[in-house]
This record gives sequence, C-alpha cells and structure tokens, in this order.
Amino acid sequence: MSAHTVDGPAESARRRVVVGVAGGIAAYKSCALIRALTESGHQVRVVPTESALEFVGRATFEALSGNPVHTGVFTDVPQVPHVRLGQEADLVVVAPATADLMARAATGRADDLLTATLLTARCPVMFVPAMHTEMWEHPATVENVATLRRRGNVVVEPASGRLTGKDTGAGRLPEPDEIFALAALLLERADALPRDLEGRRLVISAGGTREPLDPVRFLGNRSSGKQGYALARLAAQRGADVTLVAGAVAGLDDPAAVDVVRVQTAAQMGDAVTALAAGADAVIMSAAVADFRPTTLAASKIKKGAGEPDTIPLTKNDDILAGLVKARAEGDLAADTAIVGFAAETGDEQGDVLTYAREKLARKGCDLLVVNAVGDGKAFEVDNNDGWLLSADGSETALAHGSKALMASRVLDALRPLLPPAG
Ligand code: CTP
Repeated sequence: MSAHTVDGPAESARRRVVVGVAGGIAAYKSCALIRALTESGHQVRVVPTESALEFVGRATFEALSGNPVHTGVFTDVPQVPHVRLGQEADLVVVAPATADLMARAATGRADDLLTATLLTARCPVMFVPAMHTEMWEHPATVENVATLRRRGNVVVEPASGRLTGKDTGAGRLPEPDEIFALAALLLERADALPRDLEGRRLVISAGGTREPLDPVRFLGNRSSGKQGYALARLAAQRGADVTLVAGAVAGLDDPAAVDVVRVQTAAQMGDAVTALAAGADAVIMSAAVADFRPTTLAASKIKKGAGEPDTIPLTKNDDILAGLVKARAEGDLAADTAIVGFAAETGDEQGDVLTYAREKLARKGCDLLVVNAVGDGKAFEVDNNDGWLLSADGSETALAHGSKALMASRVLDALRPLLPPAG
C-alpha cells in the first residue's frame, strides 16, 4: 500500500469507522484497509463474522485497530455494543462482503454483531463484495445487491481478475488502497457515490504522455494520473461503463471494474481516445498530453560526444481535445457527446489562472473545463487538490480543497446533466 497521511486528520476530522469483515479468503486484505484507516487517524472498530476468524485471527484485528474484537451480541452486554457500534459510527465498511453476508443484510437479519450493527447504523454503509463470479452473478446475489443499493447503501463494483485458485472473473476484492480511497471519500462526502451513471459510457484519459527521443530517453511531464484514475474509479462505482486511456502514471493499480487501455505517446493517446469516443456518452481529457514531440526518433542511443549538445527540434502534436470538439461540430462524433477538458495553469504577469482558463475554455470549445492551479507543489503528484469548474454556459464554480476523489465526484456531478439521455 502507498503511504497515507502520516499525521492523520485534525481532531475534527477523526471519525469512527466500523470495519466489518465477512468470511472469505479476501479477509486478509482487510488488514491493510484497517491499517490505512488507523494511520489516517480514524478510530476503527473491527467486527468480523465468526467465519472471518477462520481466515484472520482476532489478535490481528485487535492489534491493528487497537480495540477489542467480538463477533456475537452477548459479549460486553452492559455496553450494548450491538446497538452502540452502529449508532455511533460515521461509516461502516464491510470488506470483504460475501454473498452470505449481503443476503443476511438484505433480509434484515441480526444474528451476529456485524448484522446487528448494520441494522442500527444511520451513517453511510459500504459493502465491498468478494466472491466467485458465479456467486456474484447469481440472481439471488444480484437481487440482494439491488435491494441494498435501493436502500441507500453503497455496494462497490468488484474487480475482475484472479480469484482463489485458477479461476478469473468479476468478484475479486478491489485493492485495499482503492477501498480506502472510497471509504475516505464517503467520510468527506456522504452522498458521493450514487448509482447515477448506470448505462453511460465514459472515456477518460489520464497520466502523462512520453515522447521518445531515442531508445532510452523521452520528453515527459510530472502528471501522476491520480486525478484521472480517481475519475475513472468513481464513474465506474457510480455505475458507468468506463474505459480509461492511461499514459505514464505513478504506479497506480487499475481501478476496479474499469477497462484500461495503455498508451505512451500523444499520438497513441489521440488514436485510442478518438476511436473510443465514437461510442461514448462523454470524454474526459484529464491526461497531460505533450504539446510537442521530438521531430525525429533516433534509432540508437544519442551519444554525449565531445562538443556542445545539439538542440532538439520539436514538432507540434495534434490537440486531442480540440480534435474531439471539431469532430462533434462536423458530425463525425454524435452531437450530444459531452466533452470535458482540464487546464493546468500557473498564471503569470500577463494574467492569472482564471483568466487563462477562461481563454482556454473558449479556445478549446469543450462543455466543461476543470481548472487546477499548478506549481508550488500544487496539483501534480499530490493527493489533494482544488480549483474551478468552468462551464460553456458561463457558470463558474469553485472546487473546495479536498481529495482528488472529492474533486472527481464534483466533476461527475457537473457532467451528469450534460449527458445524453440513457439509451
Ligand atoms: N490536450 C489535448 N491534446 C494536446 C494537449 C492538451 O487533448 N495535445 C488537452 C488536455 O488533456 C487538457 C486540455 O487539453 O484536457 C488542456 O491542456 P493544457 O496542457 O492545459 O493546455 P494546452 O492546450 O496545452 O495549452 P497551454 O499549454 O498553452 O496552456
């Protein structure tokens, strides 16, 4: 797992999180989630089911959370834990949530401490399923998931990939980093994960491009891809069908339930995005695309030589975003495809960040422009961000400082009304 805020949040941001653990092999991954939550300063109570303790011992959960761990309702009776834990929680995360646990939750059972806690919780509740594909796709589970979602719970889309043994398919627990990001988002904003993008197809670009100079060198930039990955992750968890076109990123895991297409250069990114845009309801260009590439690619490594270095001639890359807007205007792309751009601006003596951003929105002709002030350690390679959202209709919204996930949730909120009706 990557490092989380070492100092933890301020006292006001310290929250009570119940981590429920059901009995599946992925229970071991809950340990990394518990650790990430406690390292972020939150108070964590772990409530496993009896069968979860077949996979991870009680002592591990107690040591990681710093709190006692029980499974039944008849321990510590004077404290009434089966009611108190749920009532006092700011968030309940069940990871992994097995088919059995979700069935019990959907029918309102309260036959152990975890299900009793789920019935008394009035805070956001997030189930993170993990099971074999057949179980995930079974009509009983499908109906239970729909019931839990209808009641306002978040049921995370599982990842695809290797399950226990040799089988692969949908049903894998998302990586602990990803579960942590979604949990942290719900603590920042309780209503950040509605299922309001079901049936929508989104293409999202992320990361930086690399323009090769010779077999070992390239021109690149400092984009980490975190903002684009946060957008893709959230859009998928809000029900969208997402393809992420990823350039160079800082060691990020693929978000669960997202198709990832990898590219290196601006030209490759342009080809991939343009081809995918044809079937999309929206394209979000959050990638940092290189404006220029070396005019020639040396077939072998350029040697240092004795004299001064040669200058590197550059050629302008096509502007992918502007190309999409033009294709839409010319009828090569559906007229109702929503197009979102990003602007990374530093401002200078001639103009501030917003002045340049307004010019960029007008120049690029997209529907929404997400504006970040960059430089001085802002926006690139960091976890938090702020900025503005400029709309083609002239509205301007400040995006308050917060995680890139929070920023992504605001961008998707603004995008949703621009999407064509679900077909
Ligand atoms: N963009 C693109 N193709 C390029 C360059 C940029 O699609 N060749 C997109 C980016 O993905 C982003 C938006 O255009 O959504 C703005 O990128 P930015 O680098 O801020 O703008 P530029 O057009 O490069 O303008 P400048 O560098 O002059 O600020």
